[in-house]
Amino acid sequence: MKNFINLKDIPASDLKKIILDAKKRKAKRKKLNTLDVDKDSPLKGKLLIQMFEKSSLRTRLSFYLAIKQLGGAALTLRPDELHLTKGGESLADTAKILSTYGNGFMLRTDSDEKIEVFKKHLTIPIINGLSPSSHPTQILSDIFTVQEIKKKSISKLNICWIGDSNNVLNSLIAASVKFSFNLNIGCPKNYEPKKQVMNWVVKNKGKINIFNDPKKAIMNADVVFSDKVVSLNDKVNKIKKIKDFKNFRIDSKLMRLAKPSCIFLHCLPRGSEVSDKVFLGKQSKVWQQALNRVYVQKSILLYCFDKLG
Ligand code: CP
Ligand code: NVA
Repeated sequence: MKNFINLKDIPASDLKKIILDAKKRKAKRKKLNTLDVDKDSPLKGKLLIQMFEKSSLRTRLSFYLAIKQLGGAALTLRPDELHLTKGGESLADTAKILSTYGNGFMLRTDSDEKIEVFKKHLTIPIINGLSPSSHPTQILSDIFTVQEIKKKSISKLNICWIGDSNNVLNSLIAASVKFSFNLNIGCPKNYEPKKQVMNWVVKNKGKINIFNDPKKAIMNADVVFSDKVVSLNDKVNKIKKIKDFKNFRIDSKLMRLAKPSCIFLHCLPRGSEVSDKVFLGKQSKVWQQALNRVYVQKSILLYCFDKLG
């Protein structure tokens, strides 16, 4: 079995295998309905338990569909209905019970440490469904979407992120090293990625440029990514932060500095970081991006269960 916690800890060859598998499986589902099971039913009889300590729409639904299409089933737990530390039950005991009843555990949490504790005590795979430091399933799926639309390896494209240095960007940074692509980051001063993240990039010979001017960051981009300025785990002065990002709003004028063929991606939910015109416009591929999470997460599940072809 394998865990899926952080892209930086997973070999590039495995990440590429996941993407290839997703491509093959997606192609085979053209005539199937949402809940039809893939012909080979590779996870028949398996139960994925998922738990969300933070809100979720896409991750919840896409993992549900992913395991169903592989022949298994999903059960979503609400943390407030479990004993989970407050009732005196330790995370270690919870992990042992999850491993007794289930076959895989997907967790969205506001604590990276909690993932580590679960990992230590689970005997089934754990998948990070968003933590304060990363959102690996989202970004792996986004790499798939970029390559699907651009019909070429992401290593041949200029990728740009305009926005906060948050969990999603951390995963995109890790992906830029694993998939060897150029990444321009546009963010205000004092909102750059953490030193620890950038030290890892330098150590691993990443190709990342940081600009405090969105116009410089977006120049010649093939893909522009963005995300909310205030994330779920942000305990910031929201009014100040939104004001600090005022000049980093992605509108049509800014998009014109990218290549004419540039696409816009956003993991959703969205805030004021992007104009409606861009978000709902021709260059935006956000709905395709959201749907692709089902396909890539299926292959992530197969990877975790050692069933990747
Ligand atoms: N993009 C994403 O993870 O969405 P949810 O928060 O709705 O799961
Ligand atoms: N950065 C966002 C992503 C939501 C899917 C958050 O953590 O809230």
